Amino acid sequence: MPIDKSAVPLVAVEFMNSDHHEAADLVNVLEALLDPDEGDVDEAAVGNALRAFLDHTREHFAREEEEMVRTSFPVYLVHKGEHDRVLEDMEVVYGDWTAGKDVVRLLTWVRGPLPEWLVEHILTMDTITAQYLANAG
Ligand SMILES: [Fe+2]
Repeated sequence: MPIDKSAVPLVAVEFMNSDHHEAADLVNVLEALLDPDEGDVDEAAVGNALRAFLDHTREHFAREEEEMVRTSFPVYLVHKGEHDRVLEDMEVVYGDWTAGKDVVRLLTWVRGPLPEWLVEHILTMDTITAQYLANAG
């Protein structure tokens, strides 16, 4: 399990925490599909799980961005720029998976760069943004 949900940092806004926990669940489902206890990897299920994670992430980012716009968050464009960059990267990962079905490559991303980015993003941009949103009401 690449992400221990209890180790996902909490921020000052509840919808963000519940979205982050849902993201951790989706990543863990994906990882389990890529490294099954028995049998072969179900490639179709992996593709669906990766798509589910990407769709969730896109919707989650949109929710954060809507709140930032609503409250005139001063560095909205910095935070949104990071979201856009990451979504582009994730679509490349999805495209690579679809083209090559390279289990080791996707599993390496799911166990390393992805959870590392997630925690780092929550600890930095999301923490600051959530504090602002909580104060803005
Ligand atoms: Fe964010």
